[in-house]
Amino acid sequence: MNAESEVLLEVRDLKKHFPVRGGVFGRVSGQVRAVDGVSFSLRRGTTLGLVGESGSGKTTVGRTVLGLHAKTAGQVLFQGRDVHALGTAQLKALRPRMQLVFQYPYGSLNPRLRVGDAIGEALLEHGMAAAADVRERVLEVMHICGLASYHYERYPHEFSGGQLQRIGIARALALKPDLIVADEPVSALDVSIQAQIINLFSDLKEEQGVTFLFISHDLAVVEHLCDDIAVMYLGVIVERAPRDALFAHPLHPYTEALLSAIPLADPDAPRQRIVLQGELPSPAQPPDGCRFHGRCPRAQAACAQVEPSLRDLGDGHFVACHLHGAL
Ligand SMILES: Nc1ncnc2c1ncn2[C@@H]1O[C@H](COP(=O)(O)OP(=O)(O)OP(=O)(O)O)[C@@H](O)[C@H]1O
Ligand SMILES: [Mg+2]
Repeated sequence: MNAESEVLLEVRDLKKHFPVRGGVFGRVSGQVRAVDGVSFSLRRGTTLGLVGESGSGKTTVGRTVLGLHAKTAGQVLFQGRDVHALGTAQLKALRPRMQLVFQYPYGSLNPRLRVGDAIGEALLEHGMAAAADVRERVLEVMHICGLASYHYERYPHEFSGGQLQRIGIARALALKPDLIVADEPVSALDVSIQAQIINLFSDLKEEQGVTFLFISHDLAVVEHLCDDIAVMYLGVIVERAPRDALFAHPLHPYTEALLSAIPLADPDAPRQRIVLQGELPSPAQPPDGCRFHGRCPRAQAACAQVEPSLRDLGDGHFVACHLHGAL
């Protein structure tokens, strides 16, 4: 097996439910099924985009994969090791190899720490560089991330949103991680800056061989970066496919609706926008049958009764929909 095909991360039927507390005594009155049976694998050096509307469970998948949330059920295997079965010390040792990049990097930076020191902090904490070598490594990742050497001495408030995101990425990259989970890393940025940061991710993937789980509510953002795309709806993956197949032949009506919202470059070939009715149902009480059936323009009687499983249609294309033989 060559390095390219090595499975770095394997997620098996992962569930994360949060208790809902209510009443005067704060008793548990239900469960929010934020992630309700998610499976995927990620090969080294590839990027998986995880998309879906707000509240579909994307962040919860990312955090549970990294062991930042305790799981409810299922398994997360990182290089074959069960992340949730590790002891505190073992998990701490694994931490540098799995990094998280946030939507709002300012919130995770200490305002009183020079950014060079903030980027180097974790290197020292994990004993990954001698104090004398930290500056050199920090300057190297700053350069890779498009930051200038003189930025080292500056403080977070002196940077723009796009530069702060470069700092957040540099901080993750300094540890030479195998996996970066990027949670909406460009959603807070202007469109023109978004493209620059996406290009940076693309370079990191090509030149540094970093493996990404890239979370976004916007399919257009993941299009150029991701090898594969998984579409989430109410705690489950409804479709997963190689990028080109997903864009050219979406099979799930929810994916079709998401794609129809992306403006096309060619104004002579207008796309029919599919506007979904209704709101995302509560993940504390997901509908019976297919979770999407109440909003699906193509729902049939069976869709309200039986939950479709994610079916392998070959060539890496998976879909959970009765229209595609899931019964
Ligand atoms: N710590 C928590 N306690 C209770 N419920 C939570 C917690 N974190 C998330 N949830 C709930 O789980 C569901 C999924 O949330 P999550 O943040 O994973 O969605 P998301 O897809 O990342 O959404 P967004 O695009 O808005 O970031 C939501 O209903 C949310 O309210
Ligand atoms: Mg989120």
